[in-house]
Amino acid sequence: MTTRILFVCLGNICRSPAAEGVVRVFAPELELDSAGTSDWHVQEPPYRPMQVAAKARGYDLSDLRARQFTAGDFAVFDLILAMDRDNLARIEALRPAGSDTPVRLFAEYAAGRDLSEVPDPYYTRDFDGVLSLIEDAARGMISTL
Ligand code: 4NP
Repeated sequence: MTTRILFVCLGNICRSPAAEGVVRVFAPELELDSAGTSDWHVQEPPYRPMQVAAKARGYDLSDLRARQFTAGDFAVFDLILAMDRDNLARIEALRPAGSDTPVRLFAEYAAGRDLSEVPDPYYTRDFDGVLSLIEDAARGMISTL
């Protein structure tokens, strides 16, 4: 059974904590975490504009703290969800020999959208649009479990 899911982006302050914050509301029975492929924001809470946009939709991200993805995560999680292809490549580069933990692009679960990546709102500044995509991907992903 897939119950432990890790969301991964670059900084772990925008997309992956938002995904964790949405999915824990939709499916409280799942064990969730998020991480960044970089160590740039380790220990920081989610980026303030992301927190504000999430709160407006009912998601409280204030307890989350950034950490860096490690090879050890392959042994802890049943499913690893990357926000874009660069994240996916950096995750796969750390896969231990013999690990068969699936790593997938989160946006591919979003029905009715021709998207495979979650655009980075740190650059696009479209925090609300990213939350809408994350909600769609979350619904699709949960329906596959
Ligand atoms: P995230 O967004 O990967 O969705 O957390 C970013 C946050 C910070 C930076 C880049 C992306 N940064 O360059 O600091």
